[in-house]
Amino acid sequence: MKKILVTRKLLKECEEKALKMFDANLNSNDELYSQNNVIKMSQGCDGILSSLTDKMDAETINKLPESIKIISNFAVGFGNIDLEAAKKRGIAVTNTPDVLTDATAEIGILLILGACRRVPEGIQGAKDCNWKWSADYLIGKQLTGARLGILGMGRIGQKIARIAKSLGMIVHYHNRSKLSPDKDNGATYHDTLKSLMSVSDVLSVCCPASNETINLINKETLEYLPKGAVVTNVARGDIVDDEALIDALERRKVYAVGLDVYKGEPNLNPGYLKYKQAFILPHLGSATKETRTAMANLAIDNIEEYFKTGNCKNKVN
Ligand code: DGY
Repeated sequence: MKKILVTRKLLKECEEKALKMFDANLNSNDELYSQNNVIKMSQGCDGILSSLTDKMDAETINKLPESIKIISNFAVGFGNIDLEAAKKRGIAVTNTPDVLTDATAEIGILLILGACRRVPEGIQGAKDCNWKWSADYLIGKQLTGARLGILGMGRIGQKIARIAKSLGMIVHYHNRSKLSPDKDNGATYHDTLKSLMSVSDVLSVCCPASNETINLINKETLEYLPKGAVVTNVARGDIVDDEALIDALERRKVYAVGLDVYKGEPNLNPGYLKYKQAFILPHLGSATKETRTAMANLAIDNIEEYFKTGNCKNKVN
């Protein structure tokens, strides 16, 4: 039986499945392992079932035991893993696409609604019993008729686009390439970020974090937005330069932000906390029972497939 290190606690049924299929070293206290601990604990293991909270940089990967052949990431994003370093060591890296598309897109839409419709202020007013209905109380931005710019039209971006269209939004997107009509669902393609941002009343960041996308939303690119745009991010915190976005909120260049992901999670830039126009969530994208179960099962199946066939359809390096 292959031996695996599971770095974070999984839902119960998934841990049972892992134990059935592997000699699995589980993390029942859900401790956050340091990189050194991951290296130590993976001695004698054939694979690691990692999560987005494990920083698998080149230094860590190079110190993993020779026996490690696969890192199966319990996430669709794999910005936490140095793919090149893993490849050089002959370690396969896999992710969990598709199964979290719907849940993450739901949060993507929630971010848009929460930021546009002033939900943080509304919640506070209701909790404090400090409100009265009036014609001009907490007037927000209506989604119907607003232009939504999707940065990264992968599976999650496409699903957000479909829901947004059904809400009456006019969808635009920027992607490495133009999608076929069955996938773009009538959305307008922009071949540059500048072109996309200049028509985005609401921006939804959905692209993966990579060397090319780190701080893509920055002081310069935020200026491409129309004044009073809304910026939302359901992808990865690394894509946004927080100081620039906070400054744009301060200057009212940006009307509101909706964020589920942050640089250096679980911390977030405290600058956001000063603004009632910041609708912030604690990385809930895939957090439903159905989705977390499907993700963990897929992460386990990826390891099995790799050891059985020497390959895996969800291999990303
Ligand atoms: C992912 O899979 O990348 C999600 O962000 C997890 O919540």
